[in-house]
Amino acid sequence: STRIPVITIDGPTASGKGTIAHRVAEALGWAVLDSGALYRLTALAVQQQGVDPDDEIAVAQVAQGLDVAFQGDQVILSGIDVASLIRQESVGNLASKIAAYPPLRQALLDRQRAFRLAPGLVADGRDMGTVVFPDAPLKIFLEADVRARAERRCKQLKEKGFSANLMRLLEDMRERDERDRTRANAPLVAAPDAKTIDSSALSIDETVNVVLDHWSSLGFPAAQ
Ligand code: CDP
Ligand code: CDP
Repeated sequence: STRIPVITIDGPTASGKGTIAHRVAEALGWAVLDSGALYRLTALAVQQQGVDPDDEIAVAQVAQGLDVAFQGDQVILSGIDVASLIRQESVGNLASKIAAYPPLRQALLDRQRAFRLAPGLVADGRDMGTVVFPDAPLKIFLEADVRARAERRCKQLKEKGFSANLMRLLEDMRERDERDRTRANAPLVAAPDAKTIDSSALSIDETVNVVLDHWSSLGFPAAQ
């Protein structure tokens, strides 16, 4: 197809999607879509506006009305940088709950597709390869065992100044994975044409190189 290229990176929480997406985008000179941030922003706005999180229509309306801008590391919601606020586990857990609502997923579809701009996009999330960009020429499914993921998340939260408990994270993570994998609408599943990478024992650099090798092997012209 003549469409702008997209590399999708889907996988469970803390598998390294965001980190790898940013590094791959940097290497190719492309933009990044952190689709999970849109679900997290909706969750935060639901909390802030006191909207009933069980009301699927009201939650979708919150998503529709989000005033959000991504600028470098900043995630600006109605003029305020909430990049670190939305990384809290409480926000992530509410995001995972409301992410099962079909009206919310529908409301976010066009917003996500609007990120597909030249020269290319690296999109990370749960359904980038299956639902949002089904025609992406390269789809990655990034795995890592749950213990490795809990340890990564624990370290990451502590580095950002949040408190974190490994056992609780492990428990929350299992619950969130289960919910993401078993929901009826856009579940977390590898697209049939996705390349699965298990990064449990891989460094960030090694994982980035595996993705870039897949991309070069497709024979598209080199970046820049
Ligand atoms: O960083 P982490 O992998 O923990 O989560 P995230 O990617 O920021 O996404 C937060 C939640 O949003 C996930 O638990 C998913 O339930 C949901 N999500 C989704 O349903 N579809 C996406 N494309 C991205 C995130
Ligand atoms: O986006 P996602 O929730 O899948 O994960 P992330 O936020 O990119 O990565 C979670 C943490 O794991 C970060 O602190 C990464 O630096 C770390 N990580 C790692 O230690 N080894 C990897 N191969 C990938 C990520």
